[in-house]
Amino acid sequence: MAADSEPETDSAPESDLMDKIVNLSKRRGFVFPSAEIYGGFRSTYDYGPIGVLLLRNVKDAWWRSMVQLRDDIVGIDAAILSPSAIWQASGHLENFTDPLVDCKVCQERFRLDKLDDPHTCPNCAAADSFTEARQFNLMFKTQAGPVSGAGTEAYLRPETAQGMFVDFANVLQSSRKKPPFGIAQVGKSFRNEITPGNFVFRTREFEQMEMEFFVPPDEAAQWYEYWCQERYQWYIDLGIPESKLRLRPHDDDELSHYSSGTSDVEFLFPWGWDELEGIANRGDYDLTQHMNASGEKLDYFDPVTNSRYTPHVIEPAAGATRTMMAFLLAAYDEEEVKGETRVVLHLHHRLAPYQVAVLPLSKKDTLTPLAREVLRSLQPHFMCDYDETQNIGKRYRRQDELGTPYCVTIDFDSLDDGAVTVRDRDSMDQERIAIPDLVDHLRARLT
Ligand code: GAP
Repeated sequence: MAADSEPETDSAPESDLMDKIVNLSKRRGFVFPSAEIYGGFRSTYDYGPIGVLLLRNVKDAWWRSMVQLRDDIVGIDAAILSPSAIWQASGHLENFTDPLVDCKVCQERFRLDKLDDPHTCPNCAAADSFTEARQFNLMFKTQAGPVSGAGTEAYLRPETAQGMFVDFANVLQSSRKKPPFGIAQVGKSFRNEITPGNFVFRTREFEQMEMEFFVPPDEAAQWYEYWCQERYQWYIDLGIPESKLRLRPHDDDELSHYSSGTSDVEFLFPWGWDELEGIANRGDYDLTQHMNASGEKLDYFDPVTNSRYTPHVIEPAAGATRTMMAFLLAAYDEEEVKGETRVVLHLHHRLAPYQVAVLPLSKKDTLTPLAREVLRSLQPHFMCDYDETQNIGKRYRRQDELGTPYCVTIDFDSLDDGAVTVRDRDSMDQERIAIPDLVDHLRARLT
């Protein structure tokens, strides 16, 4: 089969990139506004058939690099519902607040520290119309059990991190790890954000990928540097261009209540540089707080020096949903191909929702049995889509928009020669491959 000619590339202008990503997300099934048939619900989002695959691949890529490929990090999956004792000890009940101001003219509410101009309301442009800032706690409070009263209040966790501190002794004992070692977790967190926005960048329900790395105190500085570099490189390895990624150390006045040093991995979003992940040197703050509050030993006995110490913690804390959005933004491209615009997501193969699409050239019964046989042979190895509607050109364009690296087309010649056409998403080159060689051919390119 003839290959399509090489495209002349025209990059999409940054200004309307967000709109394009939001539209593509809805149209192709990445992300939908939640409860849309009821008018939507306060910046919440649902991940559709394609988005759930992409988000899962982001989380799997993180887990692979943090847990699977290492022998010094183990994983957990801790409860989301948690007692106030945890958040009392961690400092969140007292400190996990944002400064809230109301505009006295239009009654809109804002986070003071996120306003471009703290004297002008961005909604109605009134000058000096804000109330005094008051500290608003971001945790969602609820009640565990049918009877309300003292001791029944519970919180939806605002970060996954505390699970790793509270389970420290259980993990240490059961895994037989010793510092330096880490505990990793991926899961939902909840924050009653004053101003959610920018699509899934800041939402009240989101997913985090966090790892607490417990180290001897005198090794904390070197491990902090190590994790800053490791985490920066993870995004580069998965296809974020260096021009859109930077590591930015926090100024002292930005540091969280627990941190003695933090650097953010920042991505160049359409609105400017913003945070994907924070790498924090938390010292022994958390283990000490929980040790004092619970009365349990959360330290480490070093048999070599015959002494106990409280490990210090280096924490790389990333947002899965926010990171998924950055991968989408970085992958989006528009190219001119034969006078038409081709929208394509150049997603890394590990992240692509579908790795392979199986496309019979026609819906006719003559091709369907062979096409389904090819599909069944690929499914154990790759996440596959199967699509037999519309003309083949439109189906290629749809797979380009989903970021599918390879399309496998079964045509009438396939019935005679037992071969199929494999089309590459990025180059649009096409190759004829014998069906018995297909799995190996694709595996060599996808892994
Ligand atoms: N345990 C430390 C911690 O939670 P954080 O900087 O507050 O640190 C870590 O959160 C990451 O979680 C952020 O870098 C961001 O990617 C993600 N994140 C935080 N709040 C979020 C929100 N409201 N919506 C989406 N992602 C959020």
